[in-house]
Amino acid sequence: MMRLENKIALVTGASSGIGQGIAIAFASEGADVIVADLSGPEAAAETLSAIKAHGRRSLFVQTDVADEKSVSNLARVAIDEFGRVDILVNNAGIFTESLVENLSVADWDRVLNTNLRGTFLCIRAFINPMLERGEGRIINIASQLGQIGGGAVAHYSASKAGIIGLTKSLAREVSTRGVLVNAIAPGPIITPLLDSETEEWRSAKLAELPIGRFGRVDEVTPTAILLASADGSYYVGQTLGPNGGDVML
Ligand SMILES: NC(=O)c1ccc[n+]([C@@H]2O[C@H](COP(=O)([O-])OP(=O)(O)OC[C@H]3O[C@@H](n4cnc5c(N)ncnc54)[C@H](O)[C@@H]3O)[C@@H](O)[C@H]2O)c1
Repeated sequence: MMRLENKIALVTGASSGIGQGIAIAFASEGADVIVADLSGPEAAAETLSAIKAHGRRSLFVQTDVADEKSVSNLARVAIDEFGRVDILVNNAGIFTESLVENLSVADWDRVLNTNLRGTFLCIRAFINPMLERGEGRIINIASQLGQIGGGAVAHYSASKAGIIGLTKSLAREVSTRGVLVNAIAPGPIITPLLDSETEEWRSAKLAELPIGRFGRVDEVTPTAILLASADGSYYVGQTLGPNGGDVML
């Protein structure tokens, strides 16, 4: 039995990596999927054709999650085309490395604006219709670095810790009204984002990872399906960690 039959999902940053994996996994479970990404339609083509191959509807909306107007446009187009969004996955994110002593304000702003402000803007754009219908799932993609920190990633860690705080607070506000909000904090997962980390950073991280290897996208997607489906009906404000043991709570 498919676990997301007739659901409508929206995944930000779904042209690549974890977001792409979640969008396709959701389609394989019966969901129609709206793909929102900063990069253009060519980059989204692979995700869209995989969704179609599962027999589900898809829509691509080029979106900058850090930009209020762009997110308003996403919400308008998504609701016009699909009527509602049942599952919102705030996955779009960027990563840069810098020691705080060298970190430019522009880099701080860029990372915080995409990762944290972008998550807030998308939540604000989609939550009211969910509350009016009395149902919805919001899944925010944080990071294990938001839980334990990491060398040369204070700005990224701060953005992801912010997402975890936002998740908990919002969950307290809305869970009695039918909207369940949770986060996923993956460990290091093989995607283009991981490739952008320095070799030095990656070998240090590999050496300290209990499981001794980086994770795959398909080791994160089952957690997203859990949180999006009926199986996740008692998860509220949680941060689930497919992280190879990088964080043990
Ligand atoms: N890969 C990892 O090791 C890892 C670990 C923990 C958390 N994460 C988080 O998972 C999420 C996905 O990362 P990934 O590894 O798949 O990276 P990725 O670089 O493969 O994909 C990120 C996607 O987000 C899009 N994007 C970037 N800025 C955007 C914006 N302003 N608006 C809309 N889309 C935008 C990119 O175009 C890209 O398609 C991110 O939030 C990242 O922080 C990744």
